Parts: sequence; structure tokens; C-alpha cells
Amino acid sequence: MFPIILFALLSEMQSPESQHIITIDTTKVIREVSPRLWGVFFEEINHSGDGGLYAEMVRNRSFEDNRVPEGCIIQGDNFESPTGWKLPLRDQATPMTGWVPAPWGSDMVVGLEERFPLNSASPTCARVAVNALGDKGCAGVANVGFWGMSVSAGQRYELSLFTRAESGYTGRLLAALESEDGSKTYGSTELPGPGAAWEKRSATLASNASDHSARLALYLDAPGIVYFDMVSLFPGQVYKDRANGLRPDLAEMVANLKPAFIRFPGGCIVEGFTPESAWNWKETVGDTAVRPGRQNLWGYRASDGFGYHEMLQFAEDIGAEPIVVVNCGITCQGRGPVFQPLDKMEVFVRNALDAIEYANGGPKTKWGTERANNGHPEPFNLKYITIGNENSGPEYVARYGIMAEAVRRTFPDIRIISNDRMEGAPVDLEEHHYYMTPGWFAANANKYDRYDRTRPRVFVSEFAANQACGVGNLEAAVGESMFMMGLENNSDIVDMAAYAPLFCHHNNREWPVNLIVFDNHRVYGTPSYYAQRLFAENRPDVLFETSAPTLCEEKAWNTGAIGLGTWNTCAEFKDVEVSRQGESLYAWNPDQQLEGWSPGGGDWKVREGAIRQERIGTNCTIQGGDISWKDYTLRLKARKISGDEGFLILFRVKDLKNLFWLNLGGWNNTAHGVECFVDDGRAGAYERKAGAIETGRWYDIEITVEGNRYCILLDGVPLFEQTMEPVESSGVMVNAGLIRATGEYVVKVANYLDEPCTLDVCLRGCEGPVRGVMTVLHSAARTDENSLDAPLKVMPKTTPFHSESTVFTQEFPPCSLTVFRMKTAV
Ligand code: AHR
Repeated sequence: MFPIILFALLSEMQSPESQHIITIDTTKVIREVSPRLWGVFFEEINHSGDGGLYAEMVRNRSFEDNRVPEGCIIQGDNFESPTGWKLPLRDQATPMTGWVPAPWGSDMVVGLEERFPLNSASPTCARVAVNALGDKGCAGVANVGFWGMSVSAGQRYELSLFTRAESGYTGRLLAALESEDGSKTYGSTELPGPGAAWEKRSATLASNASDHSARLALYLDAPGIVYFDMVSLFPGQVYKDRANGLRPDLAEMVANLKPAFIRFPGGCIVEGFTPESAWNWKETVGDTAVRPGRQNLWGYRASDGFGYHEMLQFAEDIGAEPIVVVNCGITCQGRGPVFQPLDKMEVFVRNALDAIEYANGGPKTKWGTERANNGHPEPFNLKYITIGNENSGPEYVARYGIMAEAVRRTFPDIRIISNDRMEGAPVDLEEHHYYMTPGWFAANANKYDRYDRTRPRVFVSEFAANQACGVGNLEAAVGESMFMMGLENNSDIVDMAAYAPLFCHHNNREWPVNLIVFDNHRVYGTPSYYAQRLFAENRPDVLFETSAPTLCEEKAWNTGAIGLGTWNTCAEFKDVEVSRQGESLYAWNPDQQLEGWSPGGGDWKVREGAIRQERIGTNCTIQGGDISWKDYTLRLKARKISGDEGFLILFRVKDLKNLFWLNLGGWNNTAHGVECFVDDGRAGAYERKAGAIETGRWYDIEITVEGNRYCILLDGVPLFEQTMEPVESSGVMVNAGLIRATGEYVVKVANYLDEPCTLDVCLRGCEGPVRGVMTVLHSAARTDENSLDAPLKVMPKTTPFHSESTVFTQEFPPCSLTVFRMKTAV
């Protein structure tokens, strides 16, 4: 009886929001959901390809890792590009990255050699010169792989290498799988001895033990000089048995996301930090021995073994639409751009057209033939191309126009994606990228609700909470889930979306937060990984009209402390005083150091009578004063020391996630503005004006808050004056729809609050009983993360769900995502 009575009561109620009721009207379809939500984005970053998805076990197989990128010079510990951008040398500072001598007491010399190139793509090789053998009777070199080689007992490994010898070498060539120090041999083989010219040798090695710190050794057993190049070792088992294949466990992690598409190969690597370092698909196909590889702007040289063909093949193998990104004649605009002259764009146009022909061309085309020669006679059926990555401005518009026109003319069916707003050039989709805090994602769930529907459809091709969330915690996953529900709700305009980046090697975290983390034998998904999976597995075809309480907290701005901050800038502040109607509330005295101040991010200290922030990083803030202060005038002086922007002056600060700030010289030192943050997410719309901050000059700043108004003076001149509107924190978000093929209802509920919330769920327009499953992504703390040692700490739990009625009550845990998948009347 109970559910029927409850339903009758619910129907009487006037305002569902006030009564904690989720009402889903299954008779009112409000939206078709784009079938292209959700995809993935692969980029060679954090060793996601080399040492990761790409199963090659030998690091620096062609001995080119120390090559100075064309046009660059070595300055101290950096490669420096012609435009002055510095790339730290890191592993490239080691003469033979990945390789160690294995002398066993012999008199020998191991080094790099450039006099006998294997081919023009691989000018450097290794030279092993043994003058006299030690007691063991052999000497050589060993490759330690990517932070150790992982071998398993009973597994086979395919070895290949190129070798040649100086005349006079009459000994044998031996290969062995060994322990880290070579003291244990797990498997060995003899290869035909090297001749006077480069020749390829291949063999299978079997391991009789498991070791995650193993190495591959190449030995000579007589004095002499032998050269090695393109030394490769692949596990016998690769994903779908493809040649030049992929690590099955990592490939499966991607396949399990059931991605609608895969965008590749980047990302910034498409742009490059010099024209030569920009990804060029033509140098990534065919025989791996003639792929030159390239210096990667993420800090290592990539082999390009996982090249264009392999990416297209992987897309096909996991049933995802491939989306290729090509360079638009501009190197990375954030790293000192080089612009290709507009009258010399032909090479970039050609590259784009040929990339499409390689994927789709018939047997009579040059690149279609090349694809067939590389093992795939059938077309890959590429439908999308993106011109540029994170490019913008008039330079981009001009180059994009040339390329997009040519693509449209030659391949009218290909859908063309732009990075920026484009007028007067063919564009089918426009890309947007978001890397923010979990709170920002939660607060911006409705970002596309009022988006201009006359503009091209949107591809949110990179998004992730990657600040204030450790290396990816539960809160990030729940914040992103709210944002993703907003994208589903707006999928009349938002066509596709992908989390980024996809992969990270545990030992090479170049990017702070990534979806899948691995080492040489283990892998785990972050909580965001499980959120992505839940969305892909539970994508409804249509959404229903749904009303639900948001349960958010209203933030009024009538009290709050003060603070200072910087964004990618070093700056200093002095003469900080707060007063109310002539009465002093606070005056900072350098002798007190930072007593009473609480830093968030950054490196704050007192130097020469000023408070100084010395770290170049985003969101460096410090809070001072009293959060119970109401009306006050804050006066101070601020001076920029170095960096990209100006400074931030914080007011009405509740804590360092809930505040207002005056951003002077923000947006890359192009504008001044006022911004409001709730739970770390930007909220409300405040003012912005063009403006910049000069380095080395002291500015006088005055901010008065009175009631719900602020008034700001810069050097005594009024800058901004406005009312601070109350805003809402992130609370609960709900959407619901139907999977047509199975007749299942999908209801998603994200609770961003710190408390559980109990809601009545009412499915209108259908009859019970209701049966299915309920999956909850939750953990003991919102900051909980997964790790290699605890890979499943935060993961969804699925339980059967049953209700006799279409109205039921459910408790949603704090910081959680709940997905119901259910049918009625079964
Ligand atoms: O995903 C990591 C990087 O973020 C991508 O290379 C770039 O497009 C963005 O800046």
C-alpha cells in the first residue's frame, strides 16, 4: 500500500523542489542525446605511448634520444628553441638513455656512433668495442626498458635488431633476458654473427621467471667492434595480435570505456615547440626502422612507433571513430609560436589532404596504396579532421581558412573541426578545452544551457578536473560527472566530449592528473575513469523532463576576510591596511612576518618590507584578516616581479575556495577583472576591462566593500563598481532518460554535498514494479584516490535494485555519483 499512498501524496504537492523529490516525466522527451558522447583523447604525453600503450619494451631503441632538436641549442639544462622556449633536458642528458654497459670485467668502451648511419632516419647507432674479455667471457650492453623491463615466466618475447661489425670480429652475438644486475639469466639465444654491412637479426626469447626489473642484454664473446641499431623487443602477446602492437591490459582499459571516438595524436605535440618537432603523420607510418621519431614537447623523444596507421588500427579495433588532428602551420602559441607564411601553406594543406587519403583512399591512390602496403587494404573510413590544436587569433583564422577550404573542396564529406570561433570558413564543430578544479566543473554544469544555438556544434575535446584534486580523486570524478550531465542535457549543441589526458606512466607524471595510470606491469583507473565508464555504459538515447531539488547552499557576500594572490607570476605586496570609516582594522607590519596569514598555493615570504610570492604557478593565494569583517576598505601597493600576468587582490574571503578577487593583468596580461569563486569554481558574471600590468612598477590599489557593493580604485582612478549577487554552491544534480533498444530507464544523481541526501524518486507516466541495478561511485572521503597499490579503492559498486512502485526513496551518499538502470512492469 505504501508506495501508492506516497504517489498520491506526491501528486498533490505543489513544489517538488521544496520537498526533496526527483520527478521524471517519462511521457515528455526533451532531448535526443548525441551518440558521440563519450570518446577518448590519446596523446604521447607522460610516456603514454612509448613505455605505455605501445608494447615496445626497449627504450631508446634507435639511440637517437639525445639528439638536439633541429634549430635548438643546449643552454645549461635545457634545449632552447629559436623562439626562446626552454625544454628541460631530463633523461636526454644521459648519453645513452635506457642503456647500460655490461662489461663483466672486460676492457671495453660503449658509446654512440654517427659515422655509419643505418638510414637517414636513424643517424646514430651504438658502438660496442671490446678490447679484452673478462672472466665471464662475454661483454656488451643492456637495455633496462622504461623504468625496468617486465618479463613473465613462460612468456615469449620477439627480438629484432640491426647489427654490423668491424672486420676482424669473429665472435658470436648473444641475447639474454636477465635480472637488473645481470646475475640471473631468464632466457637466452644466439643470433647469427654480425657481418660487415647492416643486417637485421631476429629471434624469440622465452623467460623462465617473472621479474619487473629485468633487462635485455646483447653480448659479444670475442674482442672486436660491433654496432647495434633499432633494437626491439615485443611481448609475444599484444592487443588483437597486431604487428607492432599494443599492451593488452592498457588497450583493454581504453576499450572498456566503449569510446564513441578517439581523437589523436594531440594535443600540443601536434603543434610542436618548433616546426620540426611538430607531429608529422608521414614520418610515423611504414617500417619502424625508417621512422625518425621526434623530440616531444612533453620532455622526451618519442619513437612514433605508435604512428598514424597504428592509431587508425586501434580506433578500428575498439570500434571508435578516428579523429585526426593536423598542424595548421603554427607551432604552440604558448611556447613562442612560429607562423608558416600564408603563401607557403601548401605543405600543411598537402599533409592534411594526404592524411585523409591515407585513411580512406582507394587502391589507385598513392596513400591508399601505402595503407594497403602497411597491412590494411580496406579504408579506415575516417570522417573527422581537426585543423590545429588550441590555436587562436587572426593568424589561426587565416591559416585555418586556407586548409579548411582545401579539405572541403577535396573531401566534401569530411567533417572539419576548428579550435576557435570561425567566421566565413567551413567548420562543422568547434573545440573547447577545460582544465579546472572539481568545484569549477560542478559549478559549471549548466555552462551550455544558454549557449548560442546558431553557432557550430561543440566538441569538448579536452576536459578534466586537474587542480586541487591530488592526482585525481573522488571529488574530481563527481564534479566532472555534474558537468557531463550538463553536456548530455545540452547535446543538441554539444556533440562530442573527451576527458584528457588518457594515460600516465607512474614514473613520468608530466601532467598533474590523468585518467589511467600504469607502470611496466600494473594499471589503474582514477575515480574519473570509472565516471567516464559509467557515462559511456549508461548513455540514454533520449532525456526526459526532470525536476529535482538542487539542495545547494546560497552564498551571500556580506562578510569575509582579505587576501593576496598571483597567477603564473611573481609579485610583491606592501603597505597592506584595512580600515572601516577611518578606524584601523589591520595594518601589516613586516616585523610580524606572515603571522595571521594562511597560504594556499605558492611560495610566500617576507622580503625587504614586502610580502612576496616567488613561485611561477597558477592560483597562488594567501588569506589574511578576519572572516567576520563586514564593510571595510583595503588599501595596498603591489608590484609585478616577473611572469605572465599581474596580481590578484582577494576580498570578502570566506576561505580560499570561496571568495572574490580583483584580477589585475589577468588573461595573459590583457585585462583587469573581478571574479567570484564558490567551492573553487567561478560563479556569477562580473566585470572585465582591457588592461595590463607593467613589471617593476608599484600600483596603488583600493577596494571598498559596503553591504553588497564593491568599489575599486587603481592608482586613485575608479576601475570597477558593482553589486555582489548571492550565488549558489554546487549541490545535487539529476538527469534521466531512456535506452530505446532495451527499454531501460537511466537515472543519474550526482551529490556534490558533504552530507548524504535522501530523495524521493518519482517516475511519472509508467507503472511499477521497477527492477534493475543501482551503481554508486563513492568512497569514505571525497579526497580518496586510487593507486598502483590500491587500484580499486574508489570504484563503482553495483547492486540489484527493486521497487514495487515507480515512486521510491533513496539515500545518496556524500560526494557520490549514482546511476540507476531499470525497467518497469517486467
Ligand atoms: O592534455 C594535455 C594538453 O593540454 C594537450 O596537449 C593540450 O591540447 C592541452 O593544453
